[in-house]
Amino acid sequence: MSVVVVGSANLDLVYRVERIPAPGETVLATGADSAPGGKGNNQVTAVARAGGEATFIAAIGDDAAGDRLEAGLIEAGVDLRVRRSDRPTGTAVITVDDGAENAIVVDSGANRTLVDLTDVERDLIAGADVLLLQLETPLETVERAARVGHAAGATVVLNAAPIRPLPAELLSTVDLLIVNEHEAAQLAADTHGAFRGRADEEELAQVLSSLGLAVIITLGSRGALVCVPGEPPAHVAGHPVDAVDTTGAGDTFCGALVAELDRSGGGRPDLGRLVDAAAFATVAAALSVQRPGAVPSIPTLEEIHDFRATS
Ligand code: RIB
Ligand code: NA
Repeated sequence: MSVVVVGSANLDLVYRVERIPAPGETVLATGADSAPGGKGNNQVTAVARAGGEATFIAAIGDDAAGDRLEAGLIEAGVDLRVRRSDRPTGTAVITVDDGAENAIVVDSGANRTLVDLTDVERDLIAGADVLLLQLETPLETVERAARVGHAAGATVVLNAAPIRPLPAELLSTVDLLIVNEHEAAQLAADTHGAFRGRADEEELAQVLSSLGLAVIITLGSRGALVCVPGEPPAHVAGHPVDAVDTTGAGDTFCGALVAELDRSGGGRPDLGRLVDAAAFATVAAALSVQRPGAVPSIPTLEEIHDFRATS
Protein backbone atom coordinates (compact mmCIF):
# COMPACT_ATOMS: atom_id res chain seq x y z
CA MET A 1 0.00 0.00 0.00
CA SER A 2 1.31 3.47 -0.75
CA VAL A 3 0.43 7.13 -0.35
CA VAL A 4 1.44 9.98 -2.66
CA VAL A 5 1.23 13.56 -1.37
CA VAL A 6 1.40 16.44 -3.85
CA GLY A 7 1.80 19.72 -1.99
CA SER A 8 3.68 22.59 -0.45
CA ALA A 9 6.81 22.78 1.64
CA ASN A 10 7.71 25.88 3.66
CA LEU A 11 10.22 26.96 6.23
CA ASP A 12 8.16 28.28 9.15
CA LEU A 13 9.42 31.34 11.04
CA VAL A 14 7.61 31.07 14.36
CA TYR A 15 7.24 33.97 16.82
CA ARG A 16 5.80 33.38 20.30
CA VAL A 17 3.72 36.37 21.37
CA GLU A 18 1.46 37.11 24.32
CA ARG A 19 -1.20 38.01 21.80
CA ILE A 20 -1.37 38.26 18.02
CA PRO A 21 -0.91 41.93 16.97
CA ALA A 22 -3.90 43.90 15.73
CA PRO A 23 -3.54 45.99 12.52
CA GLY A 24 -1.14 48.89 13.13
CA GLU A 25 0.24 47.34 16.31
CA THR A 26 3.80 46.19 17.11
CA VAL A 27 4.36 43.51 19.72
CA LEU A 28 7.61 42.05 21.06
CA ALA A 29 7.99 38.28 20.74
CA THR A 30 8.82 36.26 23.83
CA GLY A 31 10.78 33.84 21.64
CA ALA A 32 11.39 32.90 18.00
CA ASP A 33 12.39 29.79 16.12
CA SER A 34 12.28 28.26 12.66
CA ALA A 35 11.01 24.80 11.75
CA PRO A 36 10.04 22.77 8.67
CA GLY A 37 6.40 23.24 7.73
CA GLY A 38 4.03 23.76 4.82
CA LYS A 39 0.82 21.80 4.52
CA GLY A 40 2.16 19.20 2.07
CA ASN A 41 5.38 18.68 4.02
CA ASN A 42 3.50 18.40 7.33
CA GLN A 43 1.00 15.92 5.88
CA VAL A 44 3.53 13.66 4.17
CA THR A 45 5.64 13.63 7.35
CA ALA A 46 2.53 12.70 9.36
CA VAL A 47 1.83 9.81 6.96
CA ALA A 48 5.40 8.50 7.28
CA ARG A 49 5.63 8.91 11.08
CA ALA A 50 2.27 7.14 11.44
CA GLY A 51 3.76 4.15 9.65
CA GLY A 52 2.64 4.81 6.06
CA GLU A 53 4.71 4.41 2.92
CA ALA A 54 4.80 7.96 1.57
CA THR A 55 6.07 9.73 -1.55
CA PHE A 56 6.17 13.54 -1.77
CA ILE A 57 5.89 15.55 -5.00
CA ALA A 58 6.81 19.19 -4.28
CA ALA A 59 8.97 22.16 -5.27
CA ILE A 60 11.56 23.80 -3.03
CA GLY A 61 14.28 26.37 -3.64
CA ASP A 62 17.92 25.66 -4.37
CA ASP A 63 18.85 27.18 -1.01
CA ALA A 64 19.66 26.41 2.62
CA ALA A 65 15.96 26.30 3.58
CA GLY A 66 15.37 23.74 0.81
CA ASP A 67 18.30 21.62 2.06
CA ARG A 68 16.88 21.71 5.56
CA LEU A 69 13.39 20.64 4.43
CA GLU A 70 14.83 17.85 2.31
CA ALA A 71 16.97 16.55 5.19
CA GLY A 72 13.91 16.46 7.46
CA LEU A 73 11.87 14.55 4.91
CA ILE A 74 14.63 11.98 4.38
CA GLU A 75 14.92 11.54 8.14
CA ALA A 76 11.16 10.90 8.35
CA GLY A 77 11.54 8.16 5.71
CA VAL A 78 9.64 9.94 2.93
CA ASP A 79 10.40 8.98 -0.67
CA LEU A 80 11.24 12.29 -2.38
CA ARG A 81 10.24 13.51 -5.82
CA VAL A 82 11.13 17.08 -4.94
CA ARG A 83 12.12 19.59 -7.61
CA ARG A 84 14.62 22.37 -7.00
CA SER A 85 13.25 25.63 -8.38
CA ASP A 86 15.03 28.92 -9.13
CA ARG A 87 12.56 30.60 -6.76
CA PRO A 88 13.34 30.57 -3.03
CA THR A 89 11.83 27.94 -0.76
CA GLY A 90 8.39 28.96 0.51
CA THR A 91 8.27 30.58 3.93
CA ALA A 92 5.55 31.13 6.50
CA VAL A 93 5.57 33.80 9.21
CA ILE A 94 3.62 32.41 12.14
CA THR A 95 2.67 34.16 15.36
CA VAL A 96 1.58 31.84 18.17
CA ASP A 97 -0.08 33.37 21.21
CA ASP A 98 -0.26 32.24 24.83
CA GLY A 99 -3.57 30.50 24.12
CA ALA A 100 -1.80 28.35 21.43
CA GLU A 101 -3.75 30.08 18.65
CA ASN A 102 -1.88 31.21 15.56
CA ALA A 103 -1.99 33.61 12.61
CA ILE A 104 -0.05 32.65 9.47
CA VAL A 105 1.18 34.48 6.36
CA VAL A 106 2.65 32.28 3.60
CA ASP A 107 4.95 33.37 0.80
CA SER A 108 4.63 30.46 -1.63
CA GLY A 109 7.99 30.99 -3.38
CA ALA A 110 9.07 27.77 -5.09
CA ASN A 111 5.67 26.13 -4.40
CA ARG A 112 4.26 28.38 -7.11
CA THR A 113 6.41 26.63 -9.72
CA LEU A 114 4.73 23.26 -9.21
CA VAL A 115 2.46 23.88 -12.18
CA ASP A 116 2.73 20.79 -14.32
CA LEU A 117 3.26 17.09 -13.71
CA THR A 118 6.02 15.10 -15.39
CA ASP A 119 5.34 11.64 -16.83
CA VAL A 120 7.22 10.11 -13.91
CA GLU A 121 5.06 12.03 -11.43
CA ARG A 122 1.87 11.00 -13.24
CA ASP A 123 2.95 7.35 -13.10
CA LEU A 124 3.65 7.66 -9.38
CA ILE A 125 0.22 9.15 -8.75
CA ALA A 126 -1.46 6.52 -10.93
CA GLY A 127 0.30 3.79 -8.93
CA ALA A 128 -0.74 5.16 -5.53
CA ASP A 129 -3.43 3.61 -3.33
CA VAL A 130 -4.17 6.98 -1.74
CA LEU A 131 -3.47 10.47 -3.14
CA LEU A 132 -3.45 13.31 -0.59
CA LEU A 133 -3.78 16.95 -1.75
CA GLN A 134 -4.13 20.42 -0.20
CA LEU A 135 -4.61 23.91 -1.67
CA GLU A 136 -1.23 25.57 -1.05
CA THR A 137 0.03 24.68 -4.55
CA PRO A 138 -1.40 26.01 -7.85
CA LEU A 139 -5.00 24.86 -8.33
CA GLU A 140 -4.26 23.49 -11.84
CA THR A 141 -1.75 21.08 -10.30
CA VAL A 142 -4.24 19.93 -7.68
CA GLU A 143 -6.83 19.39 -10.41
CA ARG A 144 -4.40 17.50 -12.66
CA ALA A 145 -3.16 15.26 -9.88
CA ALA A 146 -6.72 14.50 -8.72
CA ARG A 147 -7.75 13.63 -12.28
CA VAL A 148 -4.83 11.23 -12.73
CA GLY A 149 -5.39 9.61 -9.33
CA HIS A 150 -9.14 9.30 -9.84
CA ALA A 151 -8.76 7.78 -13.34
CA ALA A 152 -6.27 5.21 -11.99
CA GLY A 153 -8.56 4.21 -9.09
CA ALA A 154 -6.59 5.78 -6.23
CA THR A 155 -8.53 7.02 -3.20
CA VAL A 156 -8.31 10.81 -3.67
CA VAL A 157 -8.27 12.84 -0.43
CA LEU A 158 -8.43 16.64 -0.52
CA ASN A 159 -7.72 18.83 2.50
CA ALA A 160 -9.32 22.05 1.24
CA ALA A 161 -6.91 24.39 3.08
CA PRO A 162 -6.37 27.24 2.71
CA ILE A 163 -9.95 27.40 1.45
CA ARG A 164 -10.88 28.93 -1.90
CA PRO A 165 -13.73 28.35 -4.35
CA LEU A 166 -13.38 24.91 -5.94
CA PRO A 167 -14.45 23.86 -9.43
CA ALA A 168 -17.20 21.20 -9.41
CA GLU A 169 -15.03 19.10 -11.71
CA LEU A 170 -12.30 18.89 -9.06
CA LEU A 171 -14.80 17.82 -6.40
CA SER A 172 -16.12 15.11 -8.75
CA THR A 173 -12.66 13.47 -8.70
CA VAL A 174 -12.34 13.55 -4.89
CA ASP A 175 -13.39 10.63 -2.65
CA LEU A 176 -12.82 12.26 0.73
CA LEU A 177 -12.83 15.94 1.65
CA ILE A 178 -11.26 17.06 4.96
CA VAL A 179 -12.04 20.58 6.21
CA ASN A 180 -12.30 22.49 9.48
CA GLU A 181 -15.55 24.22 10.50
CA HIS A 182 -14.64 27.53 8.89
CA GLU A 183 -13.62 25.89 5.61
CA ALA A 184 -16.77 23.73 5.65
CA ALA A 185 -19.00 26.80 6.03
CA GLN A 186 -17.23 28.66 3.25
CA LEU A 187 -17.31 25.70 0.86
CA ALA A 188 -21.00 25.07 1.56
CA ALA A 189 -21.69 28.74 0.85
CA ASP A 190 -19.76 28.48 -2.42
CA THR A 191 -21.46 25.29 -3.59
CA HIS A 192 -24.96 25.76 -2.18
CA GLY A 193 -25.24 29.49 -1.45
CA ALA A 194 -26.52 31.20 1.69
CA PHE A 195 -25.12 28.65 4.15
CA ARG A 196 -22.44 30.89 5.61
CA GLY A 197 -22.76 31.23 9.35
CA ARG A 198 -26.19 29.62 9.54
CA ALA A 199 -25.86 25.84 9.37
CA ASP A 200 -24.61 23.77 12.30
CA GLU A 201 -21.75 21.33 11.74
CA GLU A 202 -23.98 18.27 11.17
CA GLU A 203 -25.92 20.15 8.51
CA LEU A 204 -22.71 21.34 6.89
CA ALA A 205 -21.33 17.79 6.75
CA GLN A 206 -24.52 16.56 5.10
CA VAL A 207 -24.69 19.46 2.64
CA LEU A 208 -21.09 18.85 1.55
CA SER A 209 -21.44 15.07 1.33
CA SER A 210 -24.48 15.56 -0.91
CA LEU A 211 -21.91 16.55 -3.55
CA GLY A 212 -21.26 12.80 -3.70
CA LEU A 213 -18.16 12.44 -1.54
CA ALA A 214 -17.23 11.51 2.00
CA VAL A 215 -16.59 14.49 4.30
CA ILE A 216 -14.68 14.88 7.54
CA ILE A 217 -15.04 18.13 9.47
CA THR A 218 -12.30 18.55 12.07
CA LEU A 219 -13.49 20.16 15.31
CA GLY A 220 -10.22 20.81 17.17
CA SER A 221 -10.27 19.39 20.70
CA ARG A 222 -13.89 18.32 20.11
CA GLY A 223 -12.74 15.66 17.62
CA ALA A 224 -14.27 15.26 14.18
CA LEU A 225 -17.49 14.66 12.31
CA VAL A 226 -17.49 11.94 9.64
CA CYS A 227 -20.16 11.84 6.94
CA VAL A 228 -20.80 9.71 3.87
CA PRO A 229 -23.55 10.51 1.34
CA GLY A 230 -27.04 9.51 2.44
CA GLU A 231 -26.13 8.62 6.04
CA PRO A 232 -26.28 10.70 9.23
CA PRO A 233 -22.85 12.02 10.35
CA ALA A 234 -20.90 10.13 13.02
CA HIS A 235 -19.02 11.98 15.77
CA VAL A 236 -15.49 10.94 16.70
CA ALA A 237 -14.32 12.10 20.13
CA GLY A 238 -11.42 14.48 20.59
CA HIS A 239 -8.79 14.46 23.34
CA PRO A 240 -8.63 17.65 25.38
CA VAL A 241 -4.96 18.27 26.23
CA ASP A 242 -2.86 21.27 27.26
CA ALA A 243 -2.09 22.83 23.88
CA VAL A 244 1.04 24.93 23.37
CA ASP A 245 0.94 25.27 19.56
CA THR A 246 -1.83 24.14 17.22
CA THR A 247 0.16 24.89 14.03
CA GLY A 248 0.02 21.84 11.78
CA ALA A 249 -2.53 19.96 13.93
CA GLY A 250 -4.93 19.76 10.98
CA ASP A 251 -2.12 18.50 8.76
CA THR A 252 -1.16 15.89 11.36
CA PHE A 253 -4.80 14.76 11.43
CA CYS A 254 -4.92 14.43 7.61
CA GLY A 255 -1.62 12.53 7.32
CA ALA A 256 -2.31 10.15 10.21
CA LEU A 257 -5.84 9.50 8.90
CA VAL A 258 -4.54 8.64 5.44
CA ALA A 259 -1.84 6.32 6.82
CA GLU A 260 -4.49 4.44 8.81
CA LEU A 261 -6.94 4.37 5.87
CA ASP A 262 -4.23 2.98 3.63
CA ARG A 263 -3.54 0.19 6.16
CA SER A 264 -7.23 -0.74 6.32
CA GLY A 265 -7.56 -1.52 2.59
CA GLY A 266 -8.11 0.17 -0.77
CA GLY A 267 -11.05 1.65 -2.62
CA ARG A 268 -13.59 4.22 -1.54
CA PRO A 269 -13.71 4.00 2.27
CA ASP A 270 -17.05 3.34 3.99
CA LEU A 271 -18.25 5.07 7.16
CA GLY A 272 -16.80 2.41 9.50
CA ARG A 273 -13.27 2.64 8.08
CA LEU A 274 -13.41 6.44 8.08
CA VAL A 275 -14.54 6.56 11.71
CA ASP A 276 -11.72 4.19 12.77
CA ALA A 277 -9.14 6.21 10.84
CA ALA A 278 -10.47 9.49 12.29
CA ALA A 279 -10.23 8.06 15.83
CA PHE A 280 -6.56 7.28 15.17
CA ALA A 281 -6.00 10.74 13.65
CA THR A 282 -7.54 12.68 16.57
CA VAL A 283 -4.91 11.06 18.82
CA ALA A 284 -2.10 12.11 16.47
CA ALA A 285 -3.45 15.68 16.39
CA ALA A 286 -3.80 15.81 20.20
CA LEU A 287 -0.15 14.76 20.56
CA SER A 288 1.01 17.37 18.04
CA VAL A 289 -0.60 20.37 19.78
CA GLN A 290 1.36 19.61 22.96
CA ARG A 291 4.67 20.41 21.23
CA PRO A 292 5.84 23.53 19.39
CA GLY A 293 6.34 23.75 15.62
CA ALA A 294 4.65 21.96 12.75
CA VAL A 295 6.92 19.12 11.55
CA PRO A 296 8.82 18.80 14.88
CA SER A 297 5.55 18.15 16.73
CA ILE A 298 4.20 15.34 14.52
CA PRO A 299 4.03 12.07 16.50
CA THR A 300 5.33 8.62 15.60
CA LEU A 301 3.19 5.48 15.38
CA GLU A 302 4.64 4.33 18.71
CA GLU A 303 3.59 7.58 20.41
CA ILE A 304 0.08 7.25 18.96
CA HIS A 305 -0.18 3.66 20.20
CA ASP A 306 1.13 4.60 23.67
CA PHE A 307 -1.42 7.42 23.99
CA ARG A 308 -4.25 5.09 23.00
CA ALA A 309 -3.08 2.41 25.42
CA THR A 310 -3.02 4.81 28.38
CA SER A 311 -6.16 6.91 27.81
O1 RIB B 1 -0.99 24.11 8.22
C1 RIB B 1 0.12 24.67 8.85
C2 RIB B 1 1.09 25.18 7.83
O2 RIB B 1 0.48 26.25 7.13
C3 RIB B 1 2.37 25.76 8.37
O3 RIB B 1 3.38 24.79 8.55
C4 RIB B 1 2.73 26.84 7.37
O4 RIB B 1 3.87 26.57 6.61
C5 RIB B 1 1.49 26.98 6.48
O5 RIB B 1 1.68 26.33 5.28
NA1 NA C 1 2.37 21.61 17.35
